[in-house]
Amino acid sequence: EQIKKGSYDHFMQKEIHEQPHSLTTTMRGRLKDGGVLLGGLKEHLKTIRRCRRVVFIGCGTSYNAALAARTFVEELTGIPVTMEVASDLLDRQGPIYREDTAVFVSQSGETADTLLALDYALENGALCVGITNTVGSTLSRKTHCGVHINAGCEIGVASTKAYTSQIVAMAMMALAIGSDQISTQARRDAIISGLTSLPSCVSEVLKLDAEMKELAYSLIDSESLLVFGRGYNYATALEGALKVKEVALMHSEGMLAGEMKHGPLALVDENLPIIVIATHDACFSKQQSVIQQLLSRKGRLIVMCSKGDASAVCPNGSCRVIEVPGVADCLQPVINIIPLQLLAYHLTVLRGFDVDQPRNLAKSVTTQ
Ligand code: AGP
Repeated sequence: EQIKKGSYDHFMQKEIHEQPHSLTTTMRGRLKDGGVLLGGLKEHLKTIRRCRRVVFIGCGTSYNAALAARTFVEELTGIPVTMEVASDLLDRQGPIYREDTAVFVSQSGETADTLLALDYALENGALCVGITNTVGSTLSRKTHCGVHINAGCEIGVASTKAYTSQIVAMAMMALAIGSDQISTQARRDAIISGLTSLPSCVSEVLKLDAEMKELAYSLIDSESLLVFGRGYNYATALEGALKVKEVALMHSEGMLAGEMKHGPLALVDENLPIIVIATHDACFSKQQSVIQQLLSRKGRLIVMCSKGDASAVCPNGSCRVIEVPGVADCLQPVINIIPLQLLAYHLTVLRGFDVDQPRNLAKSVTTQ
């Protein structure tokens, strides 16, 4: 076991630091001649392009990855996307139609709720696509087609490298589905170029490790942590909070910043730490105004922003700033989650909890 961890103390730590490599293997051989080649989808692209809607279905981190992909799938394909937590779709017996493309996202490919939702979608006649890390899994065998994310074996119960590879696999899927649209060619080219530079940007953001350890130290005794995101990074807020709660055993909530005034603002005081994700994209000025409103209520803020934006997000140095490298806006969630993964990891070690095997949790939830 020690050998497999190499020079790392825990699998989660190793898997976080492996991401430049795992993302490279996710994309290997798939970005070709300025386009995307996904062998597992090729035969079904025409059907997907004609579908009435795409329905993303998953649990936990895999659901969050799909949520991160939602906006660019809508943008690049023009197909409406709806989101389903697998257990909730089953509880409601929600509508799934023959004209739907149901995309199932699962690292293990063996999550009970996701597989039951797959059976349900198959019974209802939808085209079923699998996005999984596990070749030969039930998910990859039962779906009509799909994409293997090729992130390599993930051992830590907290999913880290699978999350970023899932987003990249779905970005490639969106590019492939939208490849017949002339109007979005320039946007597709920019995203493909962003994908190519992603592993080196991830290596750069991993250099924040020591800074995140220091931040973890300052939060060690906090009872709660809020994470505010919006747009492409709403999913980052949910996923960052999930990491903190599942391994560091600290109460944490990811919140849609646009909902702040509709309740969460009441929680703000000088003690509750709040992370605000405010990297540069179309929502940037709205996040600047959220920061101002939180500061005027004496909020204890930690702001994640694009490199060079520190004074724009926090003019008088009244908050702690995490500066991250910038990539194409729709790929920014891949970069932004990494400091939060590092924060969750260090918080767990400092609080003395089991990193790779958090209490009460299993890597794969194979029962309902
Ligand atoms: C992730 O850190 C969690 N351990 C959990 O939410 C997980 O993502 C979920 O159980 C789904 O697993 P899957 O991707 O294997 O389907």
